[in-house]
Formats: sequence, C-alpha cells, structure tokens
Amino acid sequence: MKTISENNKETHKLAQEVIENLEQGDNLILLRGELGAGKTTFSQGVLKYLEAEEPFTSPTFVIIKDYQIDFKNKKGVRFERVYHLDCYRVDSAGLLDLGWEDIIKDEKNLVLVEWPEKITEILPKKYLKINFEVLGENKREIEVENKQ
Ligand SMILES: Nc1ncnc2c1ncn2[C@@H]1O[C@H](COP(=O)(O)OP(=O)(O)OP(=O)(O)O)[C@@H](O)[C@H]1O
Ligand SMILES: [Mg+2]
Repeated sequence: MKTISENNKETHKLAQEVIENLEQGDNLILLRGELGAGKTTFSQGVLKYLEAEEPFTSPTFVIIKDYQIDFKNKKGVRFERVYHLDCYRVDSAGLLDLGWEDIIKDEKNLVLVEWPEKITEILPKKYLKINFEVLGENKREIEVENKQ
C-alpha cells in the first residue's frame, strides 16, 4: 500500500492505521528512508497513539528507547511495551549485546526500527516494512509492505 503524506499530521494518521491493522505476531516494524524522511515522525505518531509517556525524543544517541504501555488494537492484538530503535550508529553485534533477541521474541513488545539496513544479519523473517521517500519539503511517499 502506497500513500502520500503532506504533513506530520497525515504521517501520524497513517501510523494509527498501521497499528490498528497489525495482526497477532506482527510486532516488528522496520522504517526505511533517508535522513529526515520521517521515520522518527512516524514513530512519534505511534507512541502518541499508544499513549506512551512523553517526551518522545529520537533514540539517535541512546539507540534503544522503551515505553511501558497497555494497548489493544481493534483486532485484539495487545502490546505492553514499545521499543523505538535507531540503528544508525550500531551494527548487528552491537545490537545483540543490547538484548535484541529478547526484545523481538516477546509478542507483547512492539518494536519500531529506524535504519534496519545496519542490522540485516539479525533481522527475523517476519516483519512489516515501511518505506519513506521524500518528494518535497513536506511531501512524503510512504509505502507499507508486509513480509512473512
Ligand atoms: N509529511 C511529512 N511526514 C513526516 N515528516 C515530515 C513531513 N513533512 C515534513 N516533515 C518533517 O521532516 C522531518 C522528518 O524528520 P525525522 O526525524 O522524522 O526523519 P528520520 O527519517 O527519522 O531521520 P533520521 O534518519 O535522521 O533519523 C521533520 O522535521 C518533520 O517535521
Ligand atoms: Mg530518526
């Protein structure tokens, strides 16, 4: 599915739709796109919708930020924690050291990953991929792809 977003609000709305359409076991979302494409903005839309506790600062320097939540989507899929990762400054070995395996194996964890290109060796087979393409100052093409 491809959509055009003209501003942050539209990207947040798309984030809500993605969350509402997750099926049981869809707990890993990969966010791809160049610097400034909107990966963090999308993640902030997710965090807001799940009523995580602010501030939703980018995990650029800490690599992993996690938030306790209690959310159930319309399909009955429940999440108790959100992990927001920015892998720009890490590699597969580094992320394994930070507990990657334990984070993704629990279906109650929703895991959002910016820069998944940095950790291709340790990605599982099943994930949802979202591609962000910059078309203009505020215009983004956002494509949601399901891989399993
Ligand atoms: N339609 C839009 N959707 C998302 N962001 C937009 C849109 N229009 C403008 N922006 C702006 O583009 C910027 C996107 O920055 P953001 O931090 O989300 O990018 P990023 O993909 O996470 O980059 P990085 O790789 O550096 O982490 C923000 O300043 C945001 O306000
Ligand atoms: Mg970012």
